[in-house]
Parts: sequence; structure tokens; C-alpha cells
Amino acid sequence: MNFSLSSKAIVSTKADCLVIGLPEKGTWPESTTQADDALGGLIKTLQKNGDISGKNATTRSVPLSDQPWSRLLVVGTGKDSERTPAAYRKALIALVGALKDGPSKLALVTLADTAVTGADAVSSGEARLNLIGRTLEEQLYTFTDYKSEKPTARKLNKVLVTASASGKALKDAFNLGLATGRGMNFTRDLGNTPPNICHPEWLAQQAKKLAKDHDCIKTEVFDEKQMEKMGMNTILAVGKGSTQPPRLIVMEYRGGNPKDKPQVLVGKGITFDTGGISLKPGAGMDEMKYDMGGSASVFGAMQVLAETKPKINVVAVIAAAENMPDGGACRPGDIVTTLSGQTVEILNTDAEGRLVLCDALTYVKKFDPAAVIDMATLTGACIVALGHHATGLLANNDELANELLAAGERADDRAWRLPLWDDYQSQLDSNFADMQNIGDRSAGTITAACFLSRFAKEYRWAHLDIAGTAWQSGKAKGASGRPVPLLVDYLMSHAGK
Ligand code: BES
Ligand code: MN
Ligand code: ZN
Repeated sequence: MNFSLSSKAIVSTKADCLVIGLPEKGTWPESTTQADDALGGLIKTLQKNGDISGKNATTRSVPLSDQPWSRLLVVGTGKDSERTPAAYRKALIALVGALKDGPSKLALVTLADTAVTGADAVSSGEARLNLIGRTLEEQLYTFTDYKSEKPTARKLNKVLVTASASGKALKDAFNLGLATGRGMNFTRDLGNTPPNICHPEWLAQQAKKLAKDHDCIKTEVFDEKQMEKMGMNTILAVGKGSTQPPRLIVMEYRGGNPKDKPQVLVGKGITFDTGGISLKPGAGMDEMKYDMGGSASVFGAMQVLAETKPKINVVAVIAAAENMPDGGACRPGDIVTTLSGQTVEILNTDAEGRLVLCDALTYVKKFDPAAVIDMATLTGACIVALGHHATGLLANNDELANELLAAGERADDRAWRLPLWDDYQSQLDSNFADMQNIGDRSAGTITAACFLSRFAKEYRWAHLDIAGTAWQSGKAKGASGRPVPLLVDYLMSHAGK
């Protein structure tokens, strides 16, 4: 698939399909007026006759003859006043949906000149081209690696996006959007890969491949023997019941000033979570292959950095293990000494995410981080609290939390903050060790974050619980690519000019 920007007039650009935005109410974008003039008032007639209302995210395809375009795809863009970035993205999703399996090979998409409400950061031409680029890549995603019969190839092979002006800023924004979409798709590929293939060492190989493909990424992998020497006993404890040994994966992207402190990303990489001896119920357990979604989003973000080369230093650490029950598995009641020296009584082997993350959070101190952000499919309780719309956010620093919330708003990949008050910490009191790995039945997302906070005291830290947002269940089962857009937006806001 080829995506490119064009600042040529639409009337002198041939295409199989011209895509225009039609507001339900409000001012028409220039390209819509131009198309209407070229088509002798056809669009006005269609709207007047009720063939097209312009309601947001509706589409209608109209065949044309004797025009530079074989057909017209009208995409409703709703009312001017209600066209938030999220509403605009809905229209873009509908647009790609209407194009993707249609007859057009070359599509000319003009929606970059549709006005969007909100602050400049979310409504400017750059912001819109970023969203268009990302939505094109992300909505054309398929995962058919394991199907013997591949679906017939799409006719669509080129999308030309018109921009009223040409310029580096617009081009960069479009390319960042495309890279973000590809980063999401990489994250989705890793998540969708079955757990008999995607195990800790396979994830390590993906990190080595990323370094091989991009000179700007360096990868280092620690195996179980090295982790034992370092004292990463909780990661090892989680991996003990599996024949697939755990791995600690470190990737570094240093595009900034060598003196700039790095942003550190930490990902939960449980390649399959059976619950261990505290075995999960069977129904839907296959979805626990997505329990490496946090690490997959770290991979996605690193690929975006490698492709766009911003001036920033980023270190990524992935704690990868498989949580299985067997004779070697850790038991409820086991007490383990973490890398930090603090002891943990494992009361439930299904609360394994926090166990692998705590050693990773201790390990990253050595990078003297500007901030540490961990991503994890950590608690079912987060789905109860926030459903599948918002990622849970907990942090020990208000400024960092607010930046991440704002990045999620801008990228239409939202998070919602939950409190991390000391009041919750006592739920982790253990009779025998410094702490236990579960609280009581209440506030499960918060007590999980409380556990992590005990290993993240020495730096600015935020935790993203993506249990509800990393993948979709049901008929549309598949990884979502979240929170890559949030992460990329945040990281880019810290990149030097
Ligand atoms: N990976 C799960 C959390 C999860 C469950 C994410 C379902 C998405 C969907 C995690 O390891 C887990 O099992 N957490 C337990 C914690 C409990 C034992 C305190 C949970 O949420 O039930
Ligand atoms: Mn678990
Ligand atoms: Zn888990």
C-alpha cells in the first residue's frame, strides 16, 4: 500500500475515487466546494434530495462518468461545532471502511481540509494529517499469517491525501501518523501471534530483529542465568512453572543529547497467563495470550522512534515470562526476595504481572530516568472500573500524570486517572514478608499499582493498566494497538526540535 501527500489541485488529479467530507451543517471545506463545482452541483443536489445527510461517519459512494474520477465517496463529517478530534477520527474510520474492500485502486482523500474543533494541538492541519496517516495504516490492518487460504488481495493500493499547502511540518505530521499506525500494527502482530510461538525468547528475538533493522536501536537480552545472578527473583519465580524460560529485554534509542535523561518504558510481557497454581477458569483463557500487550506496545513505540528519529533518549525494558502451573511452579505462600531486597509473599500466583514488573522497575533506576512509564494488562478490576474505553492511569507525580492524560486526549487514545493514596497500601500488609502480592477484593487496580509504587519511589513514575484497552474480544477479537498513540504523542512532546 502506498500513501502519499499531494498539494496538486484535485480537479487536475485523476483517481478511481475522490473522497470528500460533507458537513451536516456548517461551512464546506474548500475541496468539497471545488468538487461540487467540477461536478455541476451534484453534491448540493444529493444533500438537498436527502441522498446524503452529512451525519458524522456516514458514507455514500456515487458513480461518475466523464470526470477525472470514476466515483465519488462522500463522507459525512457532522456538525462543525461537534467535530472534535474523536468525531473526526470516527469519520476517517468510516472512510477507510468504505474504501478498503471497494473497487478503487487509487483514492484521492481530501478530508485534511475539514475543520476540527479544539486547541491548535488537536485541530491544526498537522494534527489532522497525523490522524489521517495513522487511521489509514491502522484501519487497513489484517492478520492472516496463520490462515492457509489468504483472502484475495485488495484492489486499493494507493491513497493520495491532499494538503492545501506543501511544507515540511505537514509532511512530518503525516509521516508520524503513518509511523504511529505501523507501530500499532506491529504491536497488534505481536499480540495476535499465538502463545505457542510468542514466548519470552521469541519476544527477545523480535527485539534483536528491531535492532538489526534499525541502527539507532540497541538491544540487550538477559537470560535466566544472568537474571539469577542479578537477583531478579520475582521474574524468575513467575517463570518457574514454564518450560519457556523468562527473559529481560532492554532496548535503547538514543536520538537526543547524550546528557538528556532518558524516558524509560517498561512493559509487562507475560506471553501466556494461566494464573499458575492459582489457575484461571477455562472460559476465554486463550485471550491471556494478550498478557504481553504492555510489552507489545513498548515494541510499537520503539519502532515509531526508529522510523521517525526524534531527538530524544528512550530506554525500553520488557519483563517477559510465561505463567504456567507445573511441579516447578511457585506456590501460594512462597516468599521471594525481589531485586530491590524487599520480600514478597506470593498469596496468589495469578497476580504475576506485578511480580515481573517490580524487578524491572528496580532495574531501570540505573538509567537515571527523566520518567518511567510502565504498561501492563495488570488487573481484571480495571475493566470493571473503566470498561474498554479508557486505560487506567496511576502515578506518583501529578505533572507526569497530566501530561499522559493530555497525550491520550490528543491522540484519541484516552486514559483516566485513579488515586494512589497511601490509604490503600495497608491492603498489602503480610504476616510473614514485607508485603503480599494481593489486596482484598476491593480496588484491585489501585492495590496492584500500590504494589508497583513500592519499587518506583526514586523517580517520576506512571503506570498504565491496559487490561481493558489492549485487545478486543468477541467476533472482532484482536489486539488494538493501544496505547501506542498515547505513548508516541507523549514521547514526541518531549523530543527536541
Ligand atoms: N493478566 C491478568 C489481568 C487480566 C485479566 C487482564 C483479564 C485482562 C483480562 C492478571 O495477571 C491477573 O490475573 N490479575 C488478577 C489479580 C488478582 C489475582 C489480584 C485479576 O485481575 O484477577
Ligand atoms: Mn494473572
Ligand atoms: Zn497477567
